[in-house]
Amino acid sequence: MGFGSWLELRHSRWPHDLSLSYSWLRDHCRCHLCYNSFTKQRVYDVCKLPLNIQPAAIKTTQEELELQWPDGHISKYDYKFLWQNSYEGRRTSHKVPYCTWRAATFPPAHMTTIPVGDLYDPKKAGVRRVIYSIVRNGFAIISEVPADTKSTCAAIEKVCAIKKTLFGEFWSFSEASREHADTAYSSGFIGAHTDTTYFSQACRIQVFHCLQPAAEGGENLLVDGFSVAEQFYNRDPKGYNFLSSEAIPSEYIEDGQCHMSLDTIFKHHQVTGQLQQFRYNMYDRAPLSSLPLEKVQEFYIHFQNLTKIIRNPKNEYWLTLEPGNVLFIDNWRVMHGRASYQGERIMSGCYLDNDDFTSKARVLGVQL
Ligand SMILES: [Fe+2]
Ligand SMILES: [Zn+2]
Repeated sequence: MGFGSWLELRHSRWPHDLSLSYSWLRDHCRCHLCYNSFTKQRVYDVCKLPLNIQPAAIKTTQEELELQWPDGHISKYDYKFLWQNSYEGRRTSHKVPYCTWRAATFPPAHMTTIPVGDLYDPKKAGVRRVIYSIVRNGFAIISEVPADTKSTCAAIEKVCAIKKTLFGEFWSFSEASREHADTAYSSGFIGAHTDTTYFSQACRIQVFHCLQPAAEGGENLLVDGFSVAEQFYNRDPKGYNFLSSEAIPSEYIEDGQCHMSLDTIFKHHQVTGQLQQFRYNMYDRAPLSSLPLEKVQEFYIHFQNLTKIIRNPKNEYWLTLEPGNVLFIDNWRVMHGRASYQGERIMSGCYLDNDDFTSKARVLGVQL
């Protein structure tokens, strides 16, 4: 089977030509008979598409491409639509503009910290700046938030709806209340990790607000997983490819809950190939049932090497979360951890879902 016939199209504003299949073009007619521009949904029935279709006439102007089909139907396409929605155009132009960091190059506060008042002032575009920093730097801080649950939730919900998980919606806990059988509900050291690797889709954003700091210790650790990925790839591309293609099981088990997932540590965009998600959690690794004997040893070699990079102090940024500063972490990229502590400490937070977060980003015109 061939892949049908296609049109080679050139435009002065494109860095290269596009090859567009005639079947694809007929299917993407945006006239009112083929597409409902009010509901933004397709009308054209794919089964009516003649798979050997070729246009009877082709016309190009500076603004649009016009095709007339053998049945007389006319389709018009603007060049921007073709560039943004075709495979070749998307591959060229669609890259998330993120900047990786290490401890020494940790982004300064003026790039990442937005006073809560700016969220309520349209001129200051505070919500957009929070989302932009999360996309670019992997985290953002909303400052000057009163250290109570109501004010914290209100600030978070300006950014994005709170996601309900087995931990509830907005949680707040101290060491004394061991509501869940999770390492986070203790006062010991927690190494850098991403959360909810055991969900089929990990929560996108993790939010923390420390309502009462510990008397001693309890500093928070951040490590940029995308920087770790670059370092690992440069040192050992074979290992990087192994952990990008071999799925590892994760699990979370407590009374009445049994969550399991099977996925790779590095996940890439299926069209652009750009790194899209880093999933790493030492604690939630399930028994390693996904690899045949000949791959097991290789896994441990690569996983150890990756872990050594994660634990390199040059990658570790330690910060003290003060009441008032609400920290948003991109849980698909930046790992978090915590130093052990003594005394009472009250931490609160929640998760935000990937779909809600990315939708809000697109609505506000943040490229991702
Ligand atoms: Fe965590
Ligand atoms: Zn049409």
